[in-house]
Amino acid sequence: MEKTLIILKPDALQRGMAGRIITRFEEKGFQIVAMKAMQISKDLAEKHYGVHKSKGFYPRLLQYITSSPVVVMVLQANNAIAVARKMMGATFGSNAEPGTIRGDFGLSNSFNLIHGSDSPEAAQFEMGLYFKPDELLGYERGNEKWIYDFSGDKPE
Ligand code: RTP
Ligand code: MG
Repeated sequence: MEKTLIILKPDALQRGMAGRIITRFEEKGFQIVAMKAMQISKDLAEKHYGVHKSKGFYPRLLQYITSSPVVVMVLQANNAIAVARKMMGATFGSNAEPGTIRGDFGLSNSFNLIHGSDSPEAAQFEMGLYFKPDELLGYERGNEKWIYDFSGDKPE
């Protein structure tokens, strides 16, 4: 199983969309491993989005992500990173496919509701930024055997 770091961005909370977005991941079968509401500091935002430092949108991205509280989650699933990115949709709300979170809930190219890790390395780095190791909960779900087929050597 793989873990990914998801952030429900300031516009998601301000627009009252957090519950609906969390529900989509729960309904899909993702397991919630950690979750908290917090205000991202400028320092933390610079660490998280350092890869975009040279981009024209960087100052506005820092302003946006620090402008109001967010919900940060670690979600677990088979192939969690790719599946979550697919559910999020393309970066720009104007361009994201209907059926995706950004495609269904947003029009803006900057205020796009949600962040998701884009690689295993990014997921490791981002989980370390937002959570202490002992904040990631390991627990068994009673319905796990109905979410995946465990009859082979790996979950299908
Ligand atoms: P994220 O990192 O937040 O999951 O989003 P992403 O991979 O889909 O997109 P990325 O290229 O990493 O951009 C990070 C965030 O910066 C804002 N952005 N604004 N106005 C613009 O041209 C623009 N481009 C990017 C978005 O909030 C985007 O999610
Ligand atoms: Mg990104």
